[in-house]
Amino acid sequence: MRISTQSTNFEELVDHIAEHGFCVINDFLPEATVNALANEAQRLKHTQVMQEAGIGREHLNVNKEIRGDSIYWLDEGDATEAQRSYFGQMENLRLELNRHLYLGLFGLESHLAVYPEGGFYKKHLDCFAGHNPQKPQRKISCIVYLNQGWHMQDGGQLKLYLNETDESDKYKSILISPLAGRAVIFLSDTFYHEVMPTYKERISLTGWFLSRPQQ
Ligand code: OGA
Ligand code: MN
Repeated sequence: MRISTQSTNFEELVDHIAEHGFCVINDFLPEATVNALANEAQRLKHTQVMQEAGIGREHLNVNKEIRGDSIYWLDEGDATEAQRSYFGQMENLRLELNRHLYLGLFGLESHLAVYPEGGFYKKHLDCFAGHNPQKPQRKISCIVYLNQGWHMQDGGQLKLYLNETDESDKYKSILISPLAGRAVIFLSDTFYHEVMPTYKERISLTGWFLSRPQQ
């Protein structure tokens, strides 16, 4: 796996996704944007607008056995400056993915997530089986991390299973620390993943590109 440390090299990123189905990239967002987004998440956490996360967007049944984070859905029409910087970079990514991989991505849904100390998210896929083809589907997951000063012993890694759609644990997986500015991008219907228990509050911004619904 190649981890780029320069400003976003979209060509390399898209090549990596074409070949491996996923990519890890550092410095996906400028430091000032990362810090502003982290501050926004911290502020939102103390308000009612931050909801305990459910499983799946439609059925927001809170299930603490599976995930323990709180989430806040971003609204592009009512975005802060930092959120606009994020949406701008995501639009660059969407266009590059469409240009090179013909994915037909058209929409984006994004939420901030705050995992408290002890939080986790059990192994799952971001795209649900038995979906309605007339509805937009999640195609690409992109998680951006907002944690300055994160250390190995803080846990909270993303465990990405590279054995594609096989649900068993017997194949290879990689652990990715949620370092500030780092993004992990992968095919939503292909990669099982989980958030390992975090020993410190952990903040992320997850975005999903949606496919156009079939007519
Ligand atoms: C998710 C998710 C992983 C992470 O929100 O669906 O898997 O590392 N997040 O925050
Ligand atoms: Mn997920």
